[in-house]
Amino acid sequence: MTETTFTGKKAALEELRARMRDQLSKLMPEFEIDQKAELAYEINQLKSTQNAVILGHNYMEPALYTTVPDYTGDSLELARRSTQTDADIILFCGVKFMAETAKILNPEKTVLIPSLKAGCSLAEAITAEEVRELKVQFPGVPVVTYVNTYADVKAESDYCCTSGNADKVVRHLMAEGHERIIFLPDEYLGRNTADEVGLPFVLPSPSGKPHETEPDVSGPALIGWQGRCEVHDKFSVEDVRAIRRQFPDVAVVAHPECSPEVVAETDYTGSTKQMIAYVKDVDAPHYLLLTECTMGDNIAAENPEKEMLRLCSVRCPHMNEITLEDTLEGLRKVQYQIELPQDVIKRARLPIDRMLEIV
Ligand code: 13P
Ligand code: SF4
Repeated sequence: MTETTFTGKKAALEELRARMRDQLSKLMPEFEIDQKAELAYEINQLKSTQNAVILGHNYMEPALYTTVPDYTGDSLELARRSTQTDADIILFCGVKFMAETAKILNPEKTVLIPSLKAGCSLAEAITAEEVRELKVQFPGVPVVTYVNTYADVKAESDYCCTSGNADKVVRHLMAEGHERIIFLPDEYLGRNTADEVGLPFVLPSPSGKPHETEPDVSGPALIGWQGRCEVHDKFSVEDVRAIRRQFPDVAVVAHPECSPEVVAETDYTGSTKQMIAYVKDVDAPHYLLLTECTMGDNIAAENPEKEMLRLCSVRCPHMNEITLEDTLEGLRKVQYQIELPQDVIKRARLPIDRMLEIV
């Protein structure tokens, strides 16, 4: 390294450190910020030499979230962003189903995820075989799958949706004359969406596991599945009421993967991107976010004047797998690549494209 390059690197690193200290010093000690700044600097250098773009989900930890992604957002926004890049490599700082969606939309590109351990309890909740069985049980009924599913499940579906557009996708199908719609696999997002669009929600028995009393699925209905997000399932009505007793003027903002009973107690429900916009745009003395707790840190870093309350026992163990260390290693070694069979990519693309056309 020449002396000028060395001085250039030192200055750039100093600038990054100073910016991170400014944004993050209420969230972590300075020595940790300085260590993370070095990692972030290396990642940003490698990004340009390898012509890579980094997409970062809103649940990424603050030191990563504020430094290396070219774009941050919710599942919908990042899926769209993945189609708008001419980079050769897309590195997805999020969980596996998100990276798979980027691969389905960009089959010719190299799509990387920093850790193969970054799963999702919702994506694990249903298999392609179970979707095929439902299609036999309800012939001709369109299948909407939440984007939090693996590619082979999407390949069996008619439409995808995210937490940011589930109601629009279901309304689109209703406007086309469908009275019964299969909605998989998140039971709570299904129930919350059914409430929004005015359809009854029913849970049929998965084949071979009959309910004691079989629900009536002959009339208009959103036909759901018993998948749950292991994070949002932990919030309770009692949590919200306890916070409201202590802070009567709090604005409670929830993700629609929370139960309908919790959602009924809140001031606003929306995707992670919509929650962030709500806190930014609406003035309240305090905010309580019912979602993955790191997002509260990211919002606090971006809105230092706003008072965020914490229910911070609830960290998504899968999102937690994505670190600056693994991101750097992933870019250096061009590991771990998302590989999907060509026929799955082709069939899974259709429901995603249909969703992107609606909204
Ligand atoms: P968003 O699409 O709202 O970002 O949600 C993704 C997710 O996994 C929420 O738990
Ligand atoms: Fe999946 Fe829940 Fe984690 Fe989101 S928060 S990635 S839905 S387990």
